[in-house]
Amino acid sequence: MLDVNQTVPTQALIGGAWQNADTGRRFDVRDPATGHVIASIADCGEQETRDAIAAADAALADWSAMPAAGRAAILRRWADLMIERADELARTLTRENGKPLAEARGEVMYGASYLHWFSEEATRAYGDVIPAPGADRRILVTRSPVGVCAAITPWNFPNAMLVRKAAAALAAGCTLVAKPAAETPLSALLAARIGIEAGLPGGVFNIVPGTDAAAIGAVLTASETVRKLSFTGSTGVGRKLIAQCAPTVKRVSMELGGNAPFIVFEDADLDAALDGLMASKFRNSGQTCVCANRIFVHDSVKDEFAGRLAERVAALTVGPGDQDGAEIGPLISEAAFAKVERMVSDALAKGGRVLTGGAKHPAGDLFYQPTVIDAVTADMDVMREEIFGPVAPLAGFATEAEAIELANDTEHGLAAYLYTRDLGRAWRVGDALHYGMVGINEGVLSSAAAPFGGVKQSGFGREGSRYGLDDYLEIKYMLMGGLSA
Ligand code: SIN
Repeated sequence: MLDVNQTVPTQALIGGAWQNADTGRRFDVRDPATGHVIASIADCGEQETRDAIAAADAALADWSAMPAAGRAAILRRWADLMIERADELARTLTRENGKPLAEARGEVMYGASYLHWFSEEATRAYGDVIPAPGADRRILVTRSPVGVCAAITPWNFPNAMLVRKAAAALAAGCTLVAKPAAETPLSALLAARIGIEAGLPGGVFNIVPGTDAAAIGAVLTASETVRKLSFTGSTGVGRKLIAQCAPTVKRVSMELGGNAPFIVFEDADLDAALDGLMASKFRNSGQTCVCANRIFVHDSVKDEFAGRLAERVAALTVGPGDQDGAEIGPLISEAAFAKVERMVSDALAKGGRVLTGGAKHPAGDLFYQPTVIDAVTADMDVMREEIFGPVAPLAGFATEAEAIELANDTEHGLAAYLYTRDLGRAWRVGDALHYGMVGINEGVLSSAAAPFGGVKQSGFGREGSRYGLDDYLEIKYMLMGGLSA
């Protein structure tokens, strides 16, 4: 049945050993392009999660005591092996997630870039010596690993979201228990196997795949041993996990939902704005947290922009991710498809106008036509919720102040984009947008070198960049006295 590739593991990774669930339970992974079952995976629950935490705890002392250069060498080797095996990783990813193969390859390279980045940051967890109030004393500040950490990762970037959490945690000297999304465990398991081949000691990185996310999450969050949880997923689930982490006062990083505005001013380079929007909106068939969700175009250029956008969108090639030239794959599930259908119907019922698309695509049950809807208004679901599908809703605006107000009118604050040639406006609007990340004349802003993360109900904590390591480090202050001659 596992026709993805015979080297993809199908069991949990606990303490360096591949294991089945104690109960013998398994679950199916399906190819969203065809609905076919492609693998059967160990369905872990509470017991395996407890075992994985114990394994991570047992591995912590040696891993955190290893010189940073040693940890860095393993992370670097892991990245290099992932790049060598990018084709196998990408094909696996496309089979379980549906994204076009070229994008899957891009994701594997993106994941590997975090390993390279944090292999270098591992050696830069500097401390400080601070002048003390008395001459006979010194204030010393060191940074040490948080301890055993947990990660709960999503299906939309099943390689990169796992690897970027693992890279930072392991670089800092923490050990990790990860729960990948049940839709896409294969990419995580294959990445883990490659990590073991790269030299990760047993117990440093553990994976518990499973369908009972609530049970696994409950054990991870209730554990006294787990000192930090990092989650990427919906704001609703994030709220619950934050509450569950409160009794043990765990550190928490949350990368939650977005509702990104994409603002095109009248002075923008419209060609560049169109390119940026296509890249931002249709990456992973619109299933990314940083996707442009609401497109605001100045009234004076809106009709021209909308017409040109509709032409570009109508020309997108829809098909299974492994089909040559495919640019838009299937949505991940029936529920995701139904949500997109519901949002488009709601927009049309409230006066939205479809410029292209607006219905199911004949490529298969989970394929939705790339769609542009004009004349959207603030009361429509497409403006209030994260769409997570290939649908681009457009509205006009008259002034800079109105654009800022429209853009900030959401509980979310992950990514925002603006296009203008006016430098003053770029700074003014960039500063006024209540978002963790702002792309100015750029539609794709993700990079291992940059701090990825949101504000408001899009969460807190940062992944990537030098700030990303801080999320896995504790600050310790020591006062050394008795230094007078
Ligand atoms: C996401 O959608 O959550 C992540 C996308 C990215 O890292 O660019």
